[in-house]
Amino acid sequence: MKDFWLAPSILSANFARLGDEVDAVLEAGADVVHFDVMDNHYVPNLTIGPMVCKALRDHGVTAPIDVHLMVEPVDAMIAQFIDAGASYITFHPEASKHVDRSLQMIRDGGCKAGLVFNPATSLDVLEYTLEKIDMVLLMSVNPGFGGQKFIPSTLDKLRQARALIDQSGHDIRLEVDGGVGLGNIREVAEAGADTFVAGSAIYNTEDYAATIAAMRAELAQ
Ligand code: DX5
Ligand code: ZN
Repeated sequence: MKDFWLAPSILSANFARLGDEVDAVLEAGADVVHFDVMDNHYVPNLTIGPMVCKALRDHGVTAPIDVHLMVEPVDAMIAQFIDAGASYITFHPEASKHVDRSLQMIRDGGCKAGLVFNPATSLDVLEYTLEKIDMVLLMSVNPGFGGQKFIPSTLDKLRQARALIDQSGHDIRLEVDGGVGLGNIREVAEAGADTFVAGSAIYNTEDYAATIAAMRAELAQ
């Protein structure tokens, strides 16, 4: 079986008990912590920043933290998240004036770098960046909120991104974010994704371990 990663989005966690909520999904079998950063400027919502990432590290979280920046501009936040213990840092190319420089900052800081594409954003920029990235993240909803419905055209875009990644020969993860759950995770994997963000589909259930096991069973078919 492919090396599939499940990445619960803490956007749907109970923020009053965040450390416990992160521990719980990791104990339940999650691979990665997906950390959504919103600035009420690039997206119309406001969440958490580098201090919270650092607090999770201080709390004892050792799993990879996958920081999804929905902020504009990006460079100051990149520097702060490197210091805060991020593992992956991804940003939306239109939110940086100098995409190549921002990617280089992330790698120079010892983190894995990635680009995020909104549903209506073309993958063209990958032509010049594939050798500088470790992750491509396709949004399957418009960014800003959890609990939205998966946009079906993402499946074709996943196939397109998968082909580009495979042709490049680089080791790049293909992540999908938004509206992913038990009902569609298999179809999303078949389209080429190997890393699955799931916020409400995990955190809005009673038994995280059962939900994660059911997702893995879908992926194993
Ligand atoms: C949306 C965020 C997502 C979101 C996913 O802007 O990037 O990570 O939390 O939530 P679900 O899985 O509920 O669609
Ligand atoms: Zn996200």
